[in-house]
Amino acid sequence: MTFRVLEPRPTTGADQLAIDVLVGLSERPKRLPSSLFYDDEGSRLFQAITKTPDYYPPRAELEIFESRGPELLASVAGSPVNVVDLGAGDGHKTAVLLDQLLQEGSPVRYVPIDISGGALATVTSSMAERFPGLEIEGLQSEYFNGLRWLGEQSDRRSMVLFLGSNIGNFDKARARGFLRQLWMALNDGDLALIGFDLKKDIEQLLAAYNDSEGLTSAFNLNLLTRMNTELGADFDVSRFRHYGTYNAETGAMESYLVSQEAQTVRIPALQATFTFQPWEPIHTEYSYKYLRSDIRDLARFTGFEIVDEALDENGWFCSSLWRAKKG
Ligand code: AVJ
Repeated sequence: MTFRVLEPRPTTGADQLAIDVLVGLSERPKRLPSSLFYDDEGSRLFQAITKTPDYYPPRAELEIFESRGPELLASVAGSPVNVVDLGAGDGHKTAVLLDQLLQEGSPVRYVPIDISGGALATVTSSMAERFPGLEIEGLQSEYFNGLRWLGEQSDRRSMVLFLGSNIGNFDKARARGFLRQLWMALNDGDLALIGFDLKKDIEQLLAAYNDSEGLTSAFNLNLLTRMNTELGADFDVSRFRHYGTYNAETGAMESYLVSQEAQTVRIPALQATFTFQPWEPIHTEYSYKYLRSDIRDLARFTGFEIVDEALDENGWFCSSLWRAKKG
């Protein structure tokens, strides 16, 4: 008798997009996953949002790193460390931390993990240019697979960066799930530096997600353009509008694309059409906001101990440093 074990190729990005769209637009209410924002144009628009005065989180987090970075890094400074970056973006804020660690003379290996080869290429080459001689090892994989591999492979401590309040995209249950998976992928004593956007005046939140330059609107509407380009859809972008609102009950900013009239959209890649009622929304994003007590509870629930915490001057953003407790 003979056996064969084959390893067929995984689902492609294009197939996955089609399925996410089919499922999301078939749901009632309609929704699309916020991970779909980040094609090349979406990533460029997000970087532009981070430079607007209205969208305060990147500036607040940068301020924390510039003023309190060395304190936050005190527990790793001096010993060899893998700085693991989950969703590095342009790596601007990470570079501030790397610079501080290198100044302390810590042997640092920079390990960005991203499923997108393009994103990895960008961040690794810009870091290599900025820090000649820095050891860099990009992992093209899903976050937890990459982390587990690294943990088995390297005897250094890892410090995982999950910055920019990316955690806010998960609802509270999924945030628990994500952080418990992070805990499972870490070794005892590994660290995680996590950025949380804090609850604050609602007017300020509304301004941050409805910036006056219209970049958040363009970022949200780009999802329709992306479906047109990649799935052959015929969304008329001018018939939809961006709507960003705060849900006081759940404590989250929520983004919608609202159909401003009755319309039907064809998506050839799915051999499907979707109809929209006048003023029907597609939910596209959650950005959950936290209290400091929520952060404490979340750390405890998922197996971490809080080593240190720093806020910006205004008290808008919190960088929380966690240690994985195991065994
Ligand atoms: C990159 C997910 C942290 O939710 O604040 C910015 C994305 N959306 N403006 C956020 C975003 C609208 C951002 N994250």
